[in-house]
Amino acid sequence: MTERKGEVAVLMGGASAEREISLRSGRGVLAALQSRGVQAFAFDPAVQPLDDLRRLGVERVFIALHGRYGEDGTVQGALELLGIAYTGSGVQASALAIDKIRTKQIWSFLGLPTPQSLAIGPLSQPHEIVAALGLPVVVKPCREGSTLGLSKVHRVEELEAAIALATRSDALSLAEQLIAGRELTVAVLGEASQARALPIVEIRAPEGNYDYQHKYFTEDTEYLCPAPLDAELGARVQALAVRAYAALGCSGWGRVDLMLDAGGNPWLLEVNTSPGMTDHSLVPMAARALGISYADLVLRLLDAASLKLRAAA
Ligand SMILES: Nc1ncnc2c1ncn2[C@@H]1O[C@H](COP(=O)(O)OP(=O)(O)O)[C@@H](O)[C@H]1O
Ligand SMILES: [Mg+2]
Repeated sequence: MTERKGEVAVLMGGASAEREISLRSGRGVLAALQSRGVQAFAFDPAVQPLDDLRRLGVERVFIALHGRYGEDGTVQGALELLGIAYTGSGVQASALAIDKIRTKQIWSFLGLPTPQSLAIGPLSQPHEIVAALGLPVVVKPCREGSTLGLSKVHRVEELEAAIALATRSDALSLAEQLIAGRELTVAVLGEASQARALPIVEIRAPEGNYDYQHKYFTEDTEYLCPAPLDAELGARVQALAVRAYAALGCSGWGRVDLMLDAGGNPWLLEVNTSPGMTDHSLVPMAARALGISYADLVLRLLDAASLKLRAAA
């Protein structure tokens, strides 16, 4: 393979459980780049070795991969070694953000609110979880996305199955206090120290279950953007999202998931460092609320593509 297919490769597909979603994100990104005259082509690291990128003379990539081997620092590390600039966070921030337990440890250390949790494995016992956290809890894999392997547990008898389900995806999992209330997500753009939040999106899923099905396949989830929050609370949530993002050293872009409890207190759940870019996706929705079109967003993210380790040296 010697022919150069374009200047920019859109990395999509990949080997994670979120492969199908990544293909959708990638197709959207690719079409947007091409619509703006960028010579871009699709590249699936599950099909072709990544070092083909160098042979193809690619200088920049847009990472539209999700989950493991896509937003966990591994692809970012390989691109650093290949000397190819990439969108989004660097190696360390990506590796931290994919890991919900480490992420929460950092936030807790900095005094940022995140629900109390317990690291668990396949041998964890229901009574340990109840003793540490009470009920209800959410049980979820540490390094998964798209609500895969996640259960909401209200009764102790349900815990064993929830532990088995989560730890099938990732032997390292967590139980976390369930926050009942409103679900919010905040897109953040820019480098850690100068990052800014886009308008907040509120997600209203049927019965509060924003799961894989409701994320990608149904039309019955309501999205409100900007979220109907009073101005002071909205500003506080946006500022919190930026601090949560900066705490992990994120750059380029990200999306911070939160819950707002019945008392109006925000609780941080996680940061996605390679958020969805499908037609249902939330970062494009938040950008649109500011008058930034999907294609403009994609170009802006691509413009910020860089080699982070080299920049830091
Ligand atoms: N502690 C929690 N309390 C209430 N709901 C939660 C909690 N943790 C997760 N959820 C729900 O599950 C969804 C997915 O959880 P999240 O932590 O964002 O993981 P991921 O999106 O990586 O699967 C959230 O969007 C939210 O609806
Ligand atoms: Mg999430």
